[in-house]
Amino acid sequence: MEQLTSVASWRAFARDARDRGATVGLVPTMGALHEGHVSLMERAQRDCDVVIATVFVNPRQFNDPEDLRRYPRPLSDDLARCAALSIDAVATPSTEEMWPAYPGATATTISVSGLSDDFEGAGRPGHFDGVASVVAKLFTITGPCVAYFGEKDFQQLAVVRQMVSDLAFDVTVIGCSIVRESSGLALSSRNVRLSDEGRVVATGFSRALQLVNDGTPRDADAVRRDARAVLYDAGIDVAYADVVEPATLRRRRADEEGESRLLLAGFVDGVRLLDNGTVRVHAAKGATNVVGH
Ligand code: PAF
Repeated sequence: MEQLTSVASWRAFARDARDRGATVGLVPTMGALHEGHVSLMERAQRDCDVVIATVFVNPRQFNDPEDLRRYPRPLSDDLARCAALSIDAVATPSTEEMWPAYPGATATTISVSGLSDDFEGAGRPGHFDGVASVVAKLFTITGPCVAYFGEKDFQQLAVVRQMVSDLAFDVTVIGCSIVRESSGLALSSRNVRLSDEGRVVATGFSRALQLVNDGTPRDADAVRRDARAVLYDAGIDVAYADVVEPATLRRRRADEEGESRLLLAGFVDGVRLLDNGTVRVHAAKGATNVVGH
């Protein structure tokens, strides 16, 4: 496995692979790798000839300097994990090379309006501009055929897909299912900051997802209400519990029917956690304006 510390060596590695006719898979990460990342890398290895992972804690997507400071950075463990998986290369660029102006503003920003505005975007202003800008740069440097993202960051996946479509990046974006602990807790690099008690509290997210899939027909408002109640009872400081149309992230109305996504976010031990899953909403009784069959 090669560690690529400069943009030039990373670009050359990817170009050589493409020149040999190899398909290149990209797995962008911010490190602190867990089984969720491993599932992305293994999928990439099944699909592609050459897999490049990136480990870069992108400061432009953090609106809270304390969150950036406390983000885990176990680089040698991450490299060992990638080597054990026989990943072909891991790019570990420096902030100085990725964003030379940082902490000043970079002149160019990619902003995906609409999809970025609500949910994580509302709670973390500028977050998705930072994500879209760095993902565009990772794509430009690597020139991947396929790129892999986890569904845990469901809104991020929607934003990246929209950017790829709008800017005609020649990349296929694959979303991979959330990986959970046996307790139901969705794996996240942020989980290392949870206390033992916090890990139990955080299982409220997966319990909310189970409850709204218990076979009881619920309209979108009932899904919101019941999910929020589970989070609240678990002791989670709820940021949002909302039901959306999966592709557009448009909020489902109570008179709509169909496959939907329940998006959950909240704080446990002061750590912002996310979860999401599918749910079918049923039109409220007496509703006339039924769409989305
Ligand atoms: O999901 C992440 O880890 C990050 O947001 C990403 C996609 C690597 C961009 O920094």
